[in-house]
Amino acid sequence: MAGQQAQGMAAQAGQLAGRHIVMGVTGSIAAYKAVEVVSRLRKLGAEVHVIMTRAAREFVTEMTFREISGQPVAGDMWAPVHAFQVEHIALAKLADLVLVAPATAHVLAKAAHGLADDMLSTTLLATRAPVFFAPAMNTNMYENVATQENLQTLRKRGCHIIEPDSGHLACGTSGKGRLPEPAAIVAEVVRYFTQSQALAGRKVLVTAAGTREPIDPVRFLGNRSTGRMGFAVAAEAARRGAEVTLIAGPTSLRAPAGVRRIDVETAQEMRAAVLAAYDAADIVIKTAAVADYRPATVAEHKIKKSEGELTLTLVRNPDILYELGQKKIRQVLVGFAAETRDVAAYARAKLAKKNLDFIVANNVAESDAGFGAETNRVTIYGADGSEERYPLLSKDEVAAHILDKAQSRLSR
Ligand code: CTP
Repeated sequence: MAGQQAQGMAAQAGQLAGRHIVMGVTGSIAAYKAVEVVSRLRKLGAEVHVIMTRAAREFVTEMTFREISGQPVAGDMWAPVHAFQVEHIALAKLADLVLVAPATAHVLAKAAHGLADDMLSTTLLATRAPVFFAPAMNTNMYENVATQENLQTLRKRGCHIIEPDSGHLACGTSGKGRLPEPAAIVAEVVRYFTQSQALAGRKVLVTAAGTREPIDPVRFLGNRSTGRMGFAVAAEAARRGAEVTLIAGPTSLRAPAGVRRIDVETAQEMRAAVLAAYDAADIVIKTAAVADYRPATVAEHKIKKSEGELTLTLVRNPDILYELGQKKIRQVLVGFAAETRDVAAYARAKLAKKNLDFIVANNVAESDAGFGAETNRVTIYGADGSEERYPLLSKDEVAAHILDKAQSRLSR
């Protein structure tokens, strides 16, 4: 038993080796817990650079963080630069991940509005690394609309929020706002880095945006899909190390880094591209809004207006996802269901009919979810009868949940 435990610990020991973590500590009574977070990150092999705000120094001394991190502590932007790492742009670049723990309401507000008046806020603005915030504050401050809106803004931009715990607070009240235990915060960081390898060697096929069905050389039938959800899935799969093929209908979005993009226009073109890539794929996620019908004929020249009505005859397009379900051998197949009513019933019916592993359902009649929105509120139904409802999340966060599900199915 002791041997097993030691083995488990050995597997953990180098888990963050070679990772550079920039940790922002702000002025909360929970700042003392940040000391243990730094200590745990270092034990897992990470190099940790601490930035303290002025208020943080009222709670814990700089010396504590210097000793525990083994690095100089950054804070004063105007101090003479002795080591390159303590210059804010250098730290922003060096970071593989930025963690702000504890994050006060004030630092969240500054980050949400792009203010940059000290070492931490400038680093947050300058970095391209993933940013994690672990809020800690009085319940009323946490629940205040201002703070909630700031958190929502940060989420929409792709920041990760580590939810505070509920319990007894230093101000004498009890409620939501406690900084989670250091082990839980570190687990989130570890999870992020281990996930980054989770799809290495796997092929992920994603379809995105809507198709366009031409009527004549200048007109088409289209839909409101922007492709944001699919591009977020492709980006997240690439981040997890997968080889990603993104088959996209017309959209102004730029392809995420490291993704092979194939542009198509019509449902038939999308079908051909998807079928060509299907056999090699391990996971297939079909976010595309494919037109179910196309004009029976495409006029060779622009259709001129004339008196009276114009009737277009539409014929059925192939249901690509249905075909994939029929051909499925080992692929994990994920479909989407955009509905405006009876979401659960329609989604479950599509899941069964199209032989899917999961279906991601949303109600596109809601203004903050679905087409064009930065956010989405989805329920994921599984072929195993599972049903998971998510709150309003950024499309990046939804993408991460979808891939978590697909990955778990893959490993089974
Ligand atoms: N889909 C597809 N080919 C089509 C239509 C849809 O591959 N011709 C896929 C979409 O990419 C999505 C899923 O099927 O993953 C659900 O699409 P949706 O339009 O919501 O459902 P439909 O099957 O078209 O059903 P209905 O028109 O009854 O809503």
